Amino acid sequence: MKTVKGFASATVGNVACGFDVLGFAITEPGDEVILTLSDRAHTDSPVSISAITGDGGALPLDPKKNTSSFVVLKFLEYIRAHKQIDFTGHISLELRKHLPLSSGMGSSAASAAAALIAANELMGLPCSKMELVHFAIEGERVACGSAHADNAAPAILGNFVLIRSYTPLDLITIPSPEHLYCSLVHPHTELRTAYARSVLPQEISLKTATQQWGNVGALVTGLLTSDYDLIGRSLVDVIAEPKRAPLIPGFFEVKQAALDSGALGCSIAGSGPSIFAFSSSEKTALAVGNAMKEAFLHSKAHLQSDMWVSPICKEGARIL
Ligand code: HSE
Repeated sequence: MKTVKGFASATVGNVACGFDVLGFAITEPGDEVILTLSDRAHTDSPVSISAITGDGGALPLDPKKNTSSFVVLKFLEYIRAHKQIDFTGHISLELRKHLPLSSGMGSSAASAAAALIAANELMGLPCSKMELVHFAIEGERVACGSAHADNAAPAILGNFVLIRSYTPLDLITIPSPEHLYCSLVHPHTELRTAYARSVLPQEISLKTATQQWGNVGALVTGLLTSDYDLIGRSLVDVIAEPKRAPLIPGFFEVKQAALDSGALGCSIAGSGPSIFAFSSSEKTALAVGNAMKEAFLHSKAHLQSDMWVSPICKEGARIL
């Protein structure tokens, strides 16, 4: 018997202008996955789920339907086919969820990334982190029906990740400016990614596209040159935010509160309902986060919320 514990943190997809192509990881909170390897082959499946905590009973226990076990099954298939590792034993998986579901905080990606980093360790590190990202993306398809990589890739690799291409997958990691801090506020309400994607337009005008890719290029430049003003100016989303903002009670008040408190910029975290803001110091990020929390509370829906202030996570998924 051998036991390994993997950890992967929350991530923010889109980063305003980079719908499905840009995301980053924060340092906490995150999900933990404990894998226990035994020699004894299981009759039904090489992976079974022994326990899930922190999900309120919402997640499936069927290893083919649960994102964290599904990605481990895919990983085992891959190492059998491509790394000549024929696994005949059994892996028992315990998932400790600390991230809220349907929150826009990359909850499913964190579970998948934590499971994969642990599985890779358990099997003697046959895969690179870059290879693991492929399985984590497949997990997103199971979780919400869409194989977007802007949570899965930063959950495993850390930093900012730009997805230049999906087929073939071409990922570029971008280090964070030293003083960049994220305030992430999660209101106590759920918004399913599949639904938040269904409200988006399938086609956009050339004018809209031009605005969006101008901002993506500028945001990446701002990150690479530590130009905080440019980062702030580029946090503009003319595609997803206008359609999704009405799904988040208090969004406009929360965004205004963040900007009034000195944030560089503010937008929806992934598909929402969480909202993130960037600041150029920890002190400002704290004030911004508190103002956002207050704004949720004083909005029409009077929403309670949780708030985290964090630098960008450099490491990505790791073994605890
Ligand atoms: N890019 C995805 C979306 C992120 O906006 O639907 C989901 O967290």
